[in-house]
Amino acid sequence: MDMAREYELKPAPGLDDADGAGMHTTINRRQFLRYGFNTAAGVLTASLGMLGFAAILLPPGGGGGGDLAVNFWAKGREDEAWYGAKHLQPMTKSDFVAEAANSSTGTAGASGVWNGVPVVVMYVEHSRNAGTPESNGKARFQFTEGYDETGKYVGHFEDLAEVDPRLMPSDDLVMVFGRCTHLCCIPGWQLVSNSFTEDSWTPGGGDDGGTKLFCICHSSRFDPTVLEMNSNRNRSTGATFKYAGIRRAGGPAPVGLPIIPIQLNGDTIEGLTDYVDWYTFCD
Ligand code: FES
Repeated sequence: MDMAREYELKPAPGLDDADGAGMHTTINRRQFLRYGFNTAAGVLTASLGMLGFAAILLPPGGGGGGDLAVNFWAKGREDEAWYGAKHLQPMTKSDFVAEAANSSTGTAGASGVWNGVPVVVMYVEHSRNAGTPESNGKARFQFTEGYDETGKYVGHFEDLAEVDPRLMPSDDLVMVFGRCTHLCCIPGWQLVSNSFTEDSWTPGGGDDGGTKLFCICHSSRFDPTVLEMNSNRNRSTGATFKYAGIRRAGGPAPVGLPIIPIQLNGDTIEGLTDYVDWYTFCD
C-alpha cells in the first residue's frame, strides 16, 4: 500500500554536504528496509546468529507505512533483559522511567525495532541529574564537538540541534541506529557484563566508567550520554555526511552511532524519518 513512499535524503541541517556529491536523492521504503535487517542478516548469520535480529526480516511495507512506533526487541540475548517480556510491544517512556529507578546512574536502555531496522533506546535522567554534581555518578547528557576517525574536527552537536531542535533529547530519551560503525553488528545495552556495561557513569565522554553500549563482535563501546556531531560514509556511493550521534568511546569502531530523532505520541516513543541517509553506512 505504501510501497511507493519515498524518503528524501538530505544532509545535516544547515550544513553543506561534506563532499558535495550525491546527497540529494531519494530512497523508497524497500531500499530503506534493506539498510536494516536484510543486510544485518548476513553479518549476524556469519558471526552472531544467536542475537536473533536476523529472524525478523520484515516484508517490505509490512508495517503498513506510516508506522513510526518503536517496539521492544527481546529475542536472543535480549530475552533476559528487563524488557524480556515486552517483545514487539511498543516502547513507552514510562517503561524506561520505571526501569531507571533501579539504576544508580539514573539510566535505562533497550533494544528495539523501528520501521524494520534495529535501534537502541536509552533513557538518561538528564532533567533531574543535570543540576547535581557530576561527581555523584548520576548520568546526564553532554553536548560536545566531534572528531572524525582521522582526528579532524567535524563540528559541534549544538550546531545541528539549533537548526533542528528535535535532535535534542527533550524527553530524556535518545534513540540510535543499532548498527555498529565497525562491521555492522548490533550493539546492545547491558546484554553482556563487563566494566563498560556496568551501572556507573563518569563525565567527559572517555572510555572509563560504565553505561556504554557494547558491541560484542569486537568490543566497540559507545557512550549514549555524549552527543556530538560527526561524519560517516555511505559504503555504496562513497558520499560522506555529517550527523548527530553518540560518541564512540573505544574499540575498533571509527565513529559513533547516528541519532534517530524521536517524538512522544502520548507515552509511546516514535521515530522520525528525516535523516535516513545517516543510516546508510552499512549498505
Ligand atoms: S562490528 Fe562492532 S566492534 Fe566490530
